[in-house]
Amino acid sequence: IRSDYNEVSEYISTYVKNRINEFKPTKERPFVLGLPTGSSPIGLYKNLVKYHKNGELSFKHVVTFNMDEYVGLPRDHPESYHSFMWHHLFKHIDIEPRNVNILDGNAENLSEECARFEKKIKDIGGVELFIGGIGPDGHIAFNEPGSSLMSRTRVKTLAYDTILANSRFFDNDINKVPRMALTVGVGTVMDSREVAVIITGAHKALALAKCIEEGVNHMFTVSAIQLHSKALIVCDEDATLEL
Ligand code: GLP
Repeated sequence: IRSDYNEVSEYISTYVKNRINEFKPTKERPFVLGLPTGSSPIGLYKNLVKYHKNGELSFKHVVTFNMDEYVGLPRDHPESYHSFMWHHLFKHIDIEPRNVNILDGNAENLSEECARFEKKIKDIGGVELFIGGIGPDGHIAFNEPGSSLMSRTRVKTLAYDTILANSRFFDNDINKVPRMALTVGVGTVMDSREVAVIITGAHKALALAKCIEEGVNHMFTVSAIQLHSKALIVCDEDATLEL
């Protein structure tokens, strides 16, 4: 628990930097990092860019997999997760573009695209550290309430609450928010060797309480991390209001 968003960002970014540096990634043995979008990781990405510019961190041998992407939103749309990731992180660091993996929400065959993504994660030997954020309803990636805790990467219809929450990025017009997304599954995240989740703000307090103080529950999919052997939640004081 840290006091506020900045402290949370400071903690998680130092953590990620140390994990990558201690791993000593090479071309043959890259560090495989799972990444989220949304407002939660913006401070983290800002700090990672700073560490890169200071010469404290290189992404030369880091391979990334993003959690999710909207279906049907053009890749260069300002709110696509492709745009988000390049804008906030990738264009500022020394990552090889071929090491960036983001689901293609415009693929001709969406199921095949999801299967390809899963296979790529498997072929590289799995994710070392998956960082996530959550929705106020406790979803991780786009694993909306009711998602199977065994789920894999797939097409998901967005919950009304998510469409409403994300409309802030689409001129507050829910009609502009895509109705579907591609998302890694809860099972995909759980298979990673470590999971770290950023949870900030009073609007996520109920979700945090459900996540760690109640049973594992498919209506609050982030609660699955209770079953993970190496899981970390970095939250601010506001998010602890219901604990
Ligand atoms: C979306 C994303 C999630 C993200 C959530 C919270 O639903 N698919 O991956 O965690 O938003 O976003 P924010 O961090 O802006 O609260």
